[in-house]
Amino acid sequence: MRMYDIIMKKRNGGELSREEIKFFVEGYTGGEIPDYQASALMMAIYFQKMTEAETHALTMAMAHSGDMLDLSGICGVKVDKHSTGGVGDKTSLALTPMVAACGISVAKMSGRGLGHTGGTIDKLESFAGFSTAISTERFIDNVNRIGIAIMGQTADLAPADKKLYALRDVTATVDNLSLIASSIMSKKLAAGADAIVLDVKTGSGAFMKREEDALALAKEMVAIGRAAGKNTIAVISDMDQPLGRAVGNALEVREAIDELNGAGPEDFHRLCLTLGSQMLIAGGRAQDEAQAKAMLEGAISDGSALRKFAEFVEAQGGDSEAVYDPERLPKASIIRAVPSPRDGYVQRIACDEVGICSLILGGGRETKESELDLSVGLVLEKKVGDPVRAGEPLACLYANDENKCRTAYERFLGAYVIGDERPDRTGHRIIKGII
Ligand code: URA
Repeated sequence: MRMYDIIMKKRNGGELSREEIKFFVEGYTGGEIPDYQASALMMAIYFQKMTEAETHALTMAMAHSGDMLDLSGICGVKVDKHSTGGVGDKTSLALTPMVAACGISVAKMSGRGLGHTGGTIDKLESFAGFSTAISTERFIDNVNRIGIAIMGQTADLAPADKKLYALRDVTATVDNLSLIASSIMSKKLAAGADAIVLDVKTGSGAFMKREEDALALAKEMVAIGRAAGKNTIAVISDMDQPLGRAVGNALEVREAIDELNGAGPEDFHRLCLTLGSQMLIAGGRAQDEAQAKAMLEGAISDGSALRKFAEFVEAQGGDSEAVYDPERLPKASIIRAVPSPRDGYVQRIACDEVGICSLILGGGRETKESELDLSVGLVLEKKVGDPVRAGEPLACLYANDENKCRTAYERFLGAYVIGDERPDRTGHRIIKGII
């Protein structure tokens, strides 16, 4: 078999066989197939798409590119959660300790930032010393001991996704249904949890801009999970504007801590309750949503979710003091308000553009080698539907570099549409459906 022939077959719209897909995944993981051929195949898949059979074969080949974790030594149902990627989507940071505080074991494999979206691993690294590059033994031990562990893809676990994820991030090949489904589900299957809750985003800040595409992605991932014997549930949620107010790694960690202190923004809180309920029901801890939501609210109000977060940060080598004193998190030196150019109402926000502003400030990667600045990003003062007067701040930018701050400032202004009419907020349901 030759990689050249596989690229050409897909470029011409052909259907790849299971053997061809396995040849590519094994060859790329092993380093025999170079980045430039893998990039060409990703772009061919982006344009020609994959059939369900190809997507399934790609997922299984990626899941088996390293070890498949066996979590049977951990008592009870192990639950994993994954988002398809959004702007300001810090849900995993608050949700996992909330759920763990309610007695569910969370064994989760996460990713770094991708395209204009942030990643859980980058955000967690805002805690000095924190590491997701932990051994399988420590991962299992942490879940057993404190009920929560998060790791990144390693040379042993889903290594094909680790390489392809980093490549897609910088080659404009992220937003393809089959590539997203295989990337997420390969990690979820390799990490060995019994139940998987998927948060499938839709809207201008999501990879799936249209609701029908998000639905198709959700259905495909649920089918892959269930075929592998996992209890898999998908929630389709809104990403037509950033979730909460903070966008950027350490800024989002602060907002997640606010949520655990009972002071999170309303949309973020509602999403945590919905996803958390599905996790508690899947894990057999709650009978229905009402009971699950009461348990999650209880874990916030009695402080157990916040304490669980600190325990988790500590167990993975991070500065857990920062959970109680967020001033210890990285801080930017420049804070610049972006004033509204006119009176009116915020009618729309180009959410992906807001994510790109954070990337420009240094919060995301331009190339595979880019070093992140965890302190930068932005905090929105106005969201869709809010009235605003000329000169009032729409947001504050957090930066460490004047030039980057200027570029992000101009781009941010272009992301807001302000008009005379109050927009119809019915188009901003947080939860669009559960599968
Ligand atoms: N999250 C992932 O893990 N992979 C994708 O491709 C998109 C979001």
